[in-house]
Amino acid sequence: MKTVLVTGGAGFIGSNFVKYMLDQHKDYKIVNLDLLTYAGNLENLTDIEDNPNYEFVKGDIADRSFINDLFEKYHFDLVVNFAAESHVDRSIENPEIFVQTNVMGTQVLLDAAKNLWQTGKDENGYPTYREGVKYLQVSTDEVYGALGKTGMFTETTPIQPNSPYSSSKAGADLLVRAYGNTFKFPMNITRCSNNYGPYQFPEKLIPLMISNVVELKNLPIYGDGMQIRDWLHVKDHCSGIDTVLHKGRLGEVYNIGGNNEKANIEIVDLIIANVKEKLSKNQYNGIDTDASTISDDLKIHVEDRLGHDRRYAIDNTKITTELGWSPSYTFEQGIVETIDWYLNNQDWLKQVKSGGYQEYYEKMYSKK
Ligand code: NAD
Ligand code: TYD
Repeated sequence: MKTVLVTGGAGFIGSNFVKYMLDQHKDYKIVNLDLLTYAGNLENLTDIEDNPNYEFVKGDIADRSFINDLFEKYHFDLVVNFAAESHVDRSIENPEIFVQTNVMGTQVLLDAAKNLWQTGKDENGYPTYREGVKYLQVSTDEVYGALGKTGMFTETTPIQPNSPYSSSKAGADLLVRAYGNTFKFPMNITRCSNNYGPYQFPEKLIPLMISNVVELKNLPIYGDGMQIRDWLHVKDHCSGIDTVLHKGRLGEVYNIGGNNEKANIEIVDLIIANVKEKLSKNQYNGIDTDASTISDDLKIHVEDRLGHDRRYAIDNTKITTELGWSPSYTFEQGIVETIDWYLNNQDWLKQVKSGGYQEYYEKMYSKK
């Protein structure tokens, strides 16, 4: 049995990944370490919390003595680091916590894994490691910066992050790369495009727009709304990470994406039309919105995000040709299922939007 540390497993992608791994690898034990910040929610995991192969631990990846004790206790074979501050708008408001968690936290994990896994030294003085261990850093296409109208990010595109969020992720990537080079540390980095799917915190574009349409609230479109993101279903991201974890060549970076570029305004239009259609045909628990009152008039163009990246697009040639991975969802199927999930999970939405998030929402959008 392998023991896998998943950090940030109570967040959006991490919670989907914990479930994916328990389903795909029945002989693995999954330890989920999460600080439960505003973005971490144990309600994302209620369906597997009693699984004997699953354990939750609350803690901070940047707390060195706590992390060292944890590695000592569990003797992890694999580490997948999702834990991060993940929202660009928050990083513009308060960059410091992004450096603390995303950069310092990654370095603490790297040291703990290196210490646990090192078995000795080779003839050139490089550390040697236990067989079969690996550290996987979950990163983002945002470390490459922004694209113009053409071109795509490959694994050799220069790192040119533009926001405090993406620069903190880039800093972490560079540390992981350096450990790979200096210490021959067994690692991979994955860089994925924008994810969508169940359990995404409603500060991000897709769940925020679905939630606002249902509540007949304005739909805040930053600037002209023609910024382009390359969308991938979260389950396809999970299968991509699992593929790299098991088949990726040590020391390599793999981009993950599904060739699915959409302008923000297209996404918002699709959400308005689909929510309206669904609410006019079906009853959903906890929703009494009159579908006939949903219209394009909900859209408002607000002040643009500072330093807003215009376009992202992933070239996935390396992971598809070298490792045989491919996405299973089309966007058309995935987005309709995702909208349905949010409409059917109003209690979850209400719970995550209560308290801290509400204060955040007022603070961010009252200015725009
Ligand atoms: P999220 O904000 O939903 O979840 C982050 C999780 O990390 C939360 O559960 C939070 O409690 C936890 N966390 C935060 N600080 C911590 C700390 N110091 N110690 C332990 N846990 C801590 O984020 P997400 O969207 O699920 O993203 C997960 C990872 O994937 C991030 O590293 C992000 O950069 C990367 N990523 C996200 C996307 C995307 O579209 N969401 C795309 C590519 C890569
Ligand atoms: P977001 O979900 O925050 O992801 P990221 O910034 O990491 O790509 O935003 C996706 C896009 O949607 C981005 O171009 C910003 C835009 N956006 C809006 O227009 N309005 C909003 O209220 C939000 C949250 C995002």
